[in-house]
Amino acid sequence: MSPSPCTSSIIGTGSYVPERVLTNDDLSKIVDTSDEWITTRTGIKERRIAAADEATSDMATKAALRALEAANMKAEDIELIIVATVTPDMFFPSTACIVQKKLGAANAVCFDISAACSGFLYALQVARNFINTGTRGTALVIGAEKLSSLINWKDRNTCVLFGDAAGAVVLKRVCEGEADAPGRVLSTVMGSDGNLVDLLKVPGGGSACPITAENAESRPNTIHMEGRETFKHAVTRMSQAAEQALELAGLQKSDINMVIPHQANARIISAIADRLGLPEDKTFMNLQKYGNTSAATIPVALDEANREGRIKRGDVLLLVAFGGGFTWASTVLRW
Ligand SMILES: CC(C)(COP(=O)(O)OP(=O)(O)OC[C@H]1O[C@@H](n2cnc3c(N)ncnc32)[C@H](O)[C@@H]1OP(=O)(O)O)[C@@H](O)C(=O)NCCC(=O)NCCS
Repeated sequence: MSPSPCTSSIIGTGSYVPERVLTNDDLSKIVDTSDEWITTRTGIKERRIAAADEATSDMATKAALRALEAANMKAEDIELIIVATVTPDMFFPSTACIVQKKLGAANAVCFDISAACSGFLYALQVARNFINTGTRGTALVIGAEKLSSLINWKDRNTCVLFGDAAGAVVLKRVCEGEADAPGRVLSTVMGSDGNLVDLLKVPGGGSACPITAENAESRPNTIHMEGRETFKHAVTRMSQAAEQALELAGLQKSDINMVIPHQANARIISAIADRLGLPEDKTFMNLQKYGNTSAATIPVALDEANREGRIKRGDVLLLVAFGGGFTWASTVLRW
């Protein structure tokens, strides 16, 4: 197949985090933990918690509005909305349809993607396929999570790790002959290993184990994780995916200006940076402020890096994620 003369460009980024800050010290009043343990084992200092009446679609809509503003586009210009989330407002309709209504994006086709923490990069690749093939010309790709709704606040193994947030990008079709556009998606690799579903999951609340009066007490509808095993797979898979995405883009590790990795644990990020031979100043980290926000992590980090001037036009960015499933993905961008 000859390469498509058209590519996908990220022409706007946006993000939103809820106002309420929950610090490690706050958590140490709820479970047997300490700021010292959480900081040294994870790097997280605080996380944001959505208001009781703030749903995933509310955060997604705020992030999307900021991305639209940055792209200088109106909601009606958008032809596709994909929301990556494991905390949809409800089983159906999709959170993307709810966001469509809140934005007034009447011309979009809308659906959700479930790939846990890799969800945003999965969604970006799906949108890119729509755009590169000419099926759609513009897309809003959103990662949004209210993970606080899936947390067992009595489980210190998990409750210290996660937070709520949303991030979004506007993707546009750019064809040969048009002015060189920023934020070009150069390559993406994705992978999954369903044999490892049990290492990180929310076992209850779906069709396999509906919540009943009998099982509600044991909180099956909250996050269950084998932390140590997850850690090992995360480092291996993210490192491999990063190298494969670079190779696919025809680039070397030395070409990377900034890596934006999934923000689950500072030790995982350091291990990946080491394997890629990248110094700290080329590794974006904001997990100290937000913890792990699953599918929201990468678009929030990308937006922050962009707005803080940490990345500039022409830079090579490497995005890499890992999550429940297991799933993993890596994308190379020319900013
Ligand atoms: C969860 C994680 C931080 C735990 O760190 P760790 O160094 O592996 O710690 P362990 O699981 O070995 O636990 C060590 C001890 O600390 C305890 N502990 C766990 N959470 C604690 C907390 N919040 N405060 C204090 N102690 C805690 C454990 O009970 C265990 O005690 P024990 O040795 O008496 O049994 C780490 O494994 C991790 O980040 N895993 C990957 C997470 C991830 O990437 N998830 C999402 C993928 S998208």
